Amino acid sequence: HDKKLWGGRFAEATDGLVELFNASVGFDQRLAEQDIQGSLAHVAMLGQVGILSAGEVEQITDGLHAVLTDIRAGTFEWRLDREDVHMNVEAALRDRIGPVAGKLHTARSRNDQVAVDFRLFTKQAALDLAEKIRALRAVMLSEAEKHLPGEVILPGYTHLQVAQPILLSHWFMAYVAMLERDEGRFRDAAARMDESPLGSSALAGTPWPIDRHATAAALGFARPTANSLDGVGSRDFALEFLSAGAILGAHLSRLSEELILYSTFEFGFLTLPDSHTTGSSIMPQKKNPDVSELARGKAGRLFGNLMGLLTVVKGTPLAYNKDLQEDKEGVFDSYDTLSIVLRLYADMLPKTVWHADVTRAAAARGYSTATDVADFLARQDVPFREAHEVVGGLVGLASRSGRQLWELTEEELRAAHPLLGAEVAQALTVEQSVKGRASYGGTAPERVREAIENARRALEGE
Ligand code: ARG
Repeated sequence: HDKKLWGGRFAEATDGLVELFNASVGFDQRLAEQDIQGSLAHVAMLGQVGILSAGEVEQITDGLHAVLTDIRAGTFEWRLDREDVHMNVEAALRDRIGPVAGKLHTARSRNDQVAVDFRLFTKQAALDLAEKIRALRAVMLSEAEKHLPGEVILPGYTHLQVAQPILLSHWFMAYVAMLERDEGRFRDAAARMDESPLGSSALAGTPWPIDRHATAAALGFARPTANSLDGVGSRDFALEFLSAGAILGAHLSRLSEELILYSTFEFGFLTLPDSHTTGSSIMPQKKNPDVSELARGKAGRLFGNLMGLLTVVKGTPLAYNKDLQEDKEGVFDSYDTLSIVLRLYADMLPKTVWHADVTRAAAARGYSTATDVADFLARQDVPFREAHEVVGGLVGLASRSGRQLWELTEEELRAAHPLLGAEVAQALTVEQSVKGRASYGGTAPERVREAIENARRALEGE
């Protein structure tokens, strides 16, 4: 144990359990690259404004590079008694270059240091996830394109009861739309957090003639944060990241649930690839959708990470409180979790085989074209509510006798309503039903084709 970097006023050594409880180096060493990047920008600026001499800047800069080399090589000794990444790096720098290392922390506090490190990390993570979402978006768009020429039909559900037939491509495009917004949320968050808190110092700014604009620019931020209390005390940038991650997690969980359900023996809509499913150690026939189940389950931790940090932040008075050390693990975890799920789905979906015969047959059952029959009557000037009642009666008749609508006789149809002539048979097919839903944003093939073209342009143009 060496003397604490903050040990001046203390007469007694830190209790061992306190040291263990207080330390964050076990997880915040992940910020080492950002920490050294921040220190390099800070020391360069201290030289530019004349706070440090050129020689001091050079010694500290070279020392920081050497420490970084050790960290990258995995030869750096992370020490619990040095508490966190910041003091581990600074102490290692002092071991290496001697007391001049102590000048690095001039006009800086660990409060603005950790805030700048964490913003650098989170901004990068948000942009990286945005790219990975984009890649999955491209994959799902390609799947929509792949199934469009065959006009593969899927039952559309509400309440998980058959509702109306839709194109499989239309289903894919719904997820493309969700992912486009997810990507936008991460990019928006990255743009809003693009401000450097470095130079806020402990909380009130500093009497030193620092240049916060120079360090912000050197670190690739758009500008410095405008208020020093806010700079060191706020974590809404991390909350936004976690929030975008929770929403994305909810979308991926819904997708997972659909894939799990549709891959069951009972549905039989699709076959998941062997490469992305697993077997059972006792039941030889099993092929389990573990990837999708885990992706669905991971929503729990993604939501938890958001709730956790919201709860940490809510009771803390301005500005920095040690509670805020709890901000990092959730962000790391959400980032890692989403990185892997996004990649897994980008690989898995193109290898998933859809069974068009099964989905079409399923789409035709459950009286999925009943609305089309009602519309058929309404087009002949029967008020829609009346038409609804008539067709409801037909569905009741058919279901009581175990038949589909197209199995009703001409007499039965005419008895229900004189305008239900032979031409109604047309309205009963799933193909006709899909083709008819040509309103903007609807499932008709020409609308879906347009939607795909627009999404392709958005993806390539942006
Ligand atoms: N390890 C701390 C954290 O992650 C760094 C900031 C500590 N600042 C302080 N005044 N104790 O939040």
